[in-house]
Amino acid sequence: MQTQFIDQDYASYSPENHSVWEELYGRRIGELKRQASSTYLSGLDALEIYADRIPSLEDINHRLGPITGWNSRAVPGYIPADEFFACLAERVFPTTTTIRPKEKLEYLPEPDIFHDVFGHIPMHADPVFGDFLQHFGRTGLEAKNEQQVTELQRLFWFTVEFGLIREGDELKLYGSGLISSPGEGEHSLVSNKVDRREFKLAEIIAQDFDIDVYQPILFIIENYQQLFDAVDEYHGGMS
Ligand SMILES: [Fe+2]
Repeated sequence: MQTQFIDQDYASYSPENHSVWEELYGRRIGELKRQASSTYLSGLDALEIYADRIPSLEDINHRLGPITGWNSRAVPGYIPADEFFACLAERVFPTTTTIRPKEKLEYLPEPDIFHDVFGHIPMHADPVFGDFLQHFGRTGLEAKNEQQVTELQRLFWFTVEFGLIREGDELKLYGSGLISSPGEGEHSLVSNKVDRREFKLAEIIAQDFDIDVYQPILFIIENYQQLFDAVDEYHGGMS
């Protein structure tokens, strides 16, 4: 079990690829100033992620490394759960480097660099979130059976991918799937079709999900330490 990393091959991006990034970034950033967790916005600033062209992972790592020790490494696509856990345990985030075609700006079922870099990586500049993610990876490596892998995937889904946080008296986005989606970001905050629940580990690990729809159930945390503590609790209960 060894993840095959690749080079980002920055020179291979076409002008159209860069313009897709610029358009997605431009569409999302204004709304995110209002919708996103302050932790996400601070990370985006600290990492100086470009607005007008696809970022270079090397540049991002150069800035992120001294902050939390996380780094982003290019992979060719989907990697199996055990490899994914192993990467996170080493503070490595496997990152897709291709970008969606212009014709599919709105929605792509599989991750691309906009989802992975714009959606995920700014959160890795937060020390508490970064520790949680590593703890999650280490815990995943200790999974004893498929059931535990599934439970951890649910925890990841309802937090890292689709999490909401309460900041003051407002709900904000921190999940990458919500951050990187123009339609679902707003929907998750205001729609009366979404059941927004308080974060409960037992409930989350029992909650199935469908990746192809706007999520009808979301979970709200109060702070990022809650995520670390949830992994710790899960880890303590593994047998
Ligand atoms: Fe993701």
